[in-house]
Amino acid sequence: MLFKRTHFCGHLDLACQGREVIVNGWIRKIRDFGKFAFVDLWDHTGIAQMVFSLEDGELSGIRQCIVGDSIGVKGKVVERKDKNPNLPTGDIEVNVLSWERYSISEPFPVSENPSEETRLKYRYLDLRTEKMQRNLRFRHEVIKEIRDHLSEKGFIEVETPILSKSTPEGARDYLVPSRLQPGHFYALPQSPQIYKQLLMIGGVDRYFQISRCFRDEDLRANRQPEFTQLDVEMAYADEEDIFSMTEALFKDVVRKVTGKEIPASFPRMTYQEAMSRYGSDKPDTRFGMLISDVTGQCRPEGFGVLEEALGRGDKVKGLVIPEKEPSRKEIDAMTDLAKEKGAGGLMWFKMKEGAIQSPVSKFLKDGGKSITEALGLREGDTAFVVASADSVASKALGAVRLYLRDLYGLVEKVKELHFLWVTDFPMFFYNEDEGRYETEHHPFTMPDPDDMDRYLDKDPEKIRSRSYDLVLNGEEIASGSVRNHIRPLQEKVFQKIGLTSEELQKRFSFFLKALQYGTPPHAGIAPGLDRFIQILLGEESIRDVIAFPKTTNAACLMTESPSEVDQVQLDELRIMVNNKN
Ligand code: AMO
Repeated sequence: MLFKRTHFCGHLDLACQGREVIVNGWIRKIRDFGKFAFVDLWDHTGIAQMVFSLEDGELSGIRQCIVGDSIGVKGKVVERKDKNPNLPTGDIEVNVLSWERYSISEPFPVSENPSEETRLKYRYLDLRTEKMQRNLRFRHEVIKEIRDHLSEKGFIEVETPILSKSTPEGARDYLVPSRLQPGHFYALPQSPQIYKQLLMIGGVDRYFQISRCFRDEDLRANRQPEFTQLDVEMAYADEEDIFSMTEALFKDVVRKVTGKEIPASFPRMTYQEAMSRYGSDKPDTRFGMLISDVTGQCRPEGFGVLEEALGRGDKVKGLVIPEKEPSRKEIDAMTDLAKEKGAGGLMWFKMKEGAIQSPVSKFLKDGGKSITEALGLREGDTAFVVASADSVASKALGAVRLYLRDLYGLVEKVKELHFLWVTDFPMFFYNEDEGRYETEHHPFTMPDPDDMDRYLDKDPEKIRSRSYDLVLNGEEIASGSVRNHIRPLQEKVFQKIGLTSEELQKRFSFFLKALQYGTPPHAGIAPGLDRFIQILLGEESIRDVIAFPKTTNAACLMTESPSEVDQVQLDELRIMVNNKN
């Protein structure tokens, strides 16, 4: 029999005193005191204490129950003698009159502190934790507020196909074989980029979609093979329209879901400045320790390595951590990080009792005075210095900067929200491995037309694009651009990234054709919702804000997907699996 509930567990309080209530939920804890058993009953709103009299034959059946059983309880709410101030319902308890055991649980495989693997394998049990309940609810609130805000501003939500054609966003596609057209494949969308641009050509004007994107790429803590974007596009719009729309949206949503006030507009920084001063295109602006170029002030005499570097035209760059002295081991770890970014090594200088200490000061004629003075090293500080090609030196020091942030806890997670626009990304970069140019953002971004004329043939990496990223606390949470709505210019971009006319025809002829029908100038953006929600909640992993996430191996431990399929299915699709290496 189903007890039709009158209340949720977490909503019971002294106002219900004396009332007969019905609650349903899972047993969290049973304590048997001989005459009575106390049962903590949990539902998605919280826990309430049920008191079973064990002298009553029917109620004593609770002794057979275990944690995880699903039960229904009818009882009377009474004020507790021993109140529990740590429990929201701690003023009351329910004296059980009758009950029903709906289903019996297996003993939980989940311990107090389950591993990530166990949590993902038994995700349905992990979802019963307070943390996952809170995170899913919070996620729902964020998405609801986004939908409300954009709808009010005249945007409409349009769904675009999941079975679609490849959309280049820099990852591999997930492919879906077609049964009706053997040998042909759909691609799952890496983003709805092309469709949203077609919607602009189609006169939709202001579009958004809470859209699932699929990317077969190497996964990290903040990446999933399928994730959710808030995809937005506006016709007859430019950067400024996208900036102000996004700022108003985030301000409203953040206020509604966290109660925090963020600035009405966000600071801006060019890509070049971000790389040069923070060594990253997603600078964490919650703390200082900026990178300085001290090439001009540095006296390398005596130190061959430095003399050679300067002779080659390398830069000498450094940063200072005030009043901290990292240990040898920590410096070794930072040296490894700098080397991973391509630097030959990492020099360090400490100032102690007015004297410079450094493993390299014995080589330098001035003992390191010129470098440390230029960096403003003071008593008790440590400076880190790299001599390398400009971008390598910056990236290496960028990694050192973040290491020091985490080592000394220089920022408090969640507490502050530092939004930042990074603008003027380069249009192209040279992919050394593949020996060709690629687009930094995606090929649909509008290049700076003057730069295109000037640099397309001789120096394409100098071409700036009209693209922007939104960074929150050092993480890229959104990316967007003004789009290329001019067909010949779009063709030029495709050609520069090495698409032959044949490939162009095969992959994008429909799109190039559409561009010929009076395409409005348009611009857009796509915030990654999982990442945004993760940062707002201060979670370590993106997996903690997704109900059924995948591992870094792109596997679902619960359903054991991906998995083999029947031969019949493969035959229907005319697919042969090659099991050879
Ligand atoms: P982009 O590829 O930069 O741009 O993606 C936009 C935002 O999506 C999030 N994101 C991810 N989140 C979780 N897991 C992933 N694997 C993952 N990849 C990306 C990030 C990122 O900032 N079509 C363009 C947007 C546009 O130009 O309008 C695009 O997809 O937060």
